[in-house]
Amino acid sequence: MPEKRKKMRIIRTAAPLFFVIISAFLVASFYHNVFHVHLRHLSPSSLSPSKNQNPNLAIREDLIRGPDPSPLRAPPDSILFHDWEVLVVLPENPFPSSASALGHTCLFQDGAASPALPAGVLPRGARATFKCRMPFSVRRLRPFFTPALTRTPEILRATPAFVGNSPEMLRWSSLAYESISTEDDVIVFAKGVNGRQGVNVPPSALRCIFGNGVTTAVTSSVQEVFRCGKPDRPIPGDEVKITLEIRTESVDRAHPSVALYAPRQRTLAAEAEPALICACTMMYNSGKFLREWVMYHATIGVERFVLYDNGSDDDMADVVEKLLEAGYHVTTILWPWPKTQEAGFSHCAVSYRDTCKWMAFVDVDEFIFSPSWTNASQPSKHMLESFLPKSPSSSSSPSPSIGQIALKCFEFGPSNRQSHPKEGVTQGYTCRRRIEQRHKSIVLLDAIDSSLVNVVHHFKLKDGYRTLRLSREVAAVNHYKYQAWLEFKKKFRRRVSAYVVDWRNPTNLASKDRTPGLGNNPIEPVGWAGKFCEVNDSRLRDVNRQWFGLESPTGYKLAWEDG
Ligand SMILES: *[C@@H]1O[C@H](CO)[C@@H](O)[C@H](O)[C@H]1NC(C)=O
Ligand SMILES: *[C@@H]1O[C@H](CO)[C@@H](O)[C@H](O)[C@H]1NC(C)=O
Ligand SMILES: *[C@@H]1O[C@H](CO)[C@@H](O)[C@H](O)[C@H]1NC(C)=O
Repeated sequence: MPEKRKKMRIIRTAAPLFFVIISAFLVASFYHNVFHVHLRHLSPSSLSPSKNQNPNLAIREDLIRGPDPSPLRAPPDSILFHDWEVLVVLPENPFPSSASALGHTCLFQDGAASPALPAGVLPRGARATFKCRMPFSVRRLRPFFTPALTRTPEILRATPAFVGNSPEMLRWSSLAYESISTEDDVIVFAKGVNGRQGVNVPPSALRCIFGNGVTTAVTSSVQEVFRCGKPDRPIPGDEVKITLEIRTESVDRAHPSVALYAPRQRTLAAEAEPALICACTMMYNSGKFLREWVMYHATIGVERFVLYDNGSDDDMADVVEKLLEAGYHVTTILWPWPKTQEAGFSHCAVSYRDTCKWMAFVDVDEFIFSPSWTNASQPSKHMLESFLPKSPSSSSSPSPSIGQIALKCFEFGPSNRQSHPKEGVTQGYTCRRRIEQRHKSIVLLDAIDSSLVNVVHHFKLKDGYRTLRLSREVAAVNHYKYQAWLEFKKKFRRRVSAYVVDWRNPTNLASKDRTPGLGNNPIEPVGWAGKFCEVNDSRLRDVNRQWFGLESPTGYKLAWEDG
């Protein structure tokens, strides 16, 4: 046992050293090569016999910046996710259009290759990302190096320079992945520092490191969210990495990072009057439900929508485009980080503090509904507002003000549907379980505790604020949770929360987060279509028919159909 511990200790102390050596080595000796290799990777023109004839020359020009002929500001990063999925993060977006990012390959250290799919652009630093799978042959190797990204793997494979000439791949389990600057401080989001079950490293054992070594104190460390002091002097460089330093008796270790620091910039929106109510949601391939969700909630008073997109590859971008054209206020943020729903909500809450007063944290299969709307022939933008407290109570008021509204959720079943109802989920699913489950919330962003802690869609509030729980007769959420089997199967393959077990994992079979009767097998349970049906509840269906039903030459339809 002590032997083992000793070994662990050696590994633990050696790892940071190794990291430092690798980094130094990279900077000092690979700098030149890496940049040139990546020039080749990204620029087909430099690989073709005659540069002048290459139609992609424009891309190459685009890659060349500044006095140095380096095509990219820095070498790409890559992160190994679960299931051997690799996310390659370029330091910028060299692609003039999303189409021009197509056709790339990840070329790994042993010459094995796999297709690289464009995975969106990270907002901070406008960094283009790609996803590829690690080929089997690479999985046995150590260490893993960042694959080269190329359109012509055959040619690059023959270039001796590319082998092992890249930074080491980062592990998702231990990584600072995002950062955001507020007026007063800087927030870092990181995996692998705090334990999952509420064991947080004290702020005193941490420090923030900006770029080339400026450090500040950490003031809060909870879950994956860390608050750091603002640097007291400007950090050179446009966008530099930011990370945490974990301080122990023996060694101070910099946490690996792909997070970029940028000082806060005042936006125009910050000066404008904030929206009263916005909605924030985390989604993956929900393009199909999005129109109905946005149109419905906009109608009852949600002014802006923020969609954290977990690398969707459906038609979501088109759906968003059409909603924008129609005048809806929708913002999409690429959030490719697995199992980080809580951190994503914290990110959303801080990012939109100046833009929105209240934020509804509901999923895209959840619809806020009040039975009192049943007889309203016309919807109104003030419907949702009516549940919020009137203008903030005076500061002299002794009782805490309302900072969060909690809404109960009704879980709807497949309602005998075999496939997605094209007229919408509110139309197709009308049978639900009797008792309500969990809660969703609408939060006053100014009332959120500075730790930004949230658990299952609820935030911890500052002192002086409280949560108001609405009774189901006042308002609740219709959650279209157990949809027709084909839809349900897709969704539950990808659980979102870090604090919920994977449904396919046979441990924790009694968890409340599991679907009753589903076990851990992705096979349609017998009688699925009739399950979870205890109460017929067609109130929202009928209201929506009245509000959004249209007679058209092709027959009756809902306003969100074939948008
Ligand atoms: C995002 O997608 C990954 C797989 O690509 C999945 O493992 C993860 O749970 C998803 N996260 C969220 C927040 O949807
Ligand atoms: C709606 O109208 C019906 C018929 O007039 C009435 O019975 C019902 O109570 C009303 N519902 C609400 C929520 O006002
Ligand atoms: C719901 O309505 C359908 C059709 O009217 C009926 O067959 C079914 O028994 C009802 N289910 C419940 C749980 O009331």
